[in-house]
Amino acid sequence: MARIIDGKQMAEALLAQVGTGIAERLARGQHAPALAVILVGDDPASSIYVGRKLRACAKVGITSRQYRLDRAVSQAELCDLIDRLNADPDTHGILVQLPLPAQIDANAILDRIVPAKDVDGFHPVNVGRLSTGKGQGLVPCTPLGCMMLLDSVITQFRGRDAVVIGKSNIVGKPMALLLLERECTVTVTHIATQDLPGIVRKADIVVAAAGHAGLVRGDWVKPGAVVIDVGINRIALPDGTTRIVGDVCSDEIAHARAYTPVPGGVGPMTVACLMANTLAAAQDLDR
Ligand code: GUN
Repeated sequence: MARIIDGKQMAEALLAQVGTGIAERLARGQHAPALAVILVGDDPASSIYVGRKLRACAKVGITSRQYRLDRAVSQAELCDLIDRLNADPDTHGILVQLPLPAQIDANAILDRIVPAKDVDGFHPVNVGRLSTGKGQGLVPCTPLGCMMLLDSVITQFRGRDAVVIGKSNIVGKPMALLLLERECTVTVTHIATQDLPGIVRKADIVVAAAGHAGLVRGDWVKPGAVVIDVGINRIALPDGTTRIVGDVCSDEIAHARAYTPVPGGVGPMTVACLMANTLAAAQDLDR
């Protein structure tokens, strides 16, 4: 039977480690790390994700400040807020929850955050550092968490075939770069990919980040492969209730070596990695 990789337990361990790092800062007389979280509008999913991030901050001892802005906020107002947070020595991390409303140029907003406070790792400077493999930048939280989950079951990445399903800036592209850095042979697939099943069948490592419920079928997965399911999809059930499922038909992959469940796999690790990035940003800013 495939091993289930317990993301919740791994996230708890990482949060405990971050908590220890913060306690050591305080013992040295330094401030607790402070994270500013900007939420624009009232998208229910975004509100849930931000709530989880703020609760994790409270748990590990990160000071959090939430900025809830009206959905009609202007580009200039949002830029002004980021400029203020960039200049504020008591703010170590800045996170703008995505997606942003249509009137906002999201790339321009992400570019405005100083790279040292960009705990999401979305600024072009951090993206560039990741792509050159120099390892000095902040790495996007979800792919970072996926690598930690993979590290818990894989000792040898070198030479393995990996497929990343989805080419988003948040998950697919940075994930591919992290796997490439470990010397996997990486294929990134997307909406226009021909023969997705054929590509997945060759892969030793499958990272599914398409946002499509049950896209990856059991007979696509090679026996012994490790499967990381990044999908968080709400589906309607015949009885009128809803359920959260991933991108992988997890009940069909008993022949895999290991896989992450949804919920309880990648999601908790994303939040824990945000805490780790915020502590890392505070340590670097204080240097
Ligand atoms: N929206 C969906 N995922 C993310 C994420 O990792 N960071 C931010 N800021 N917004 C998101």
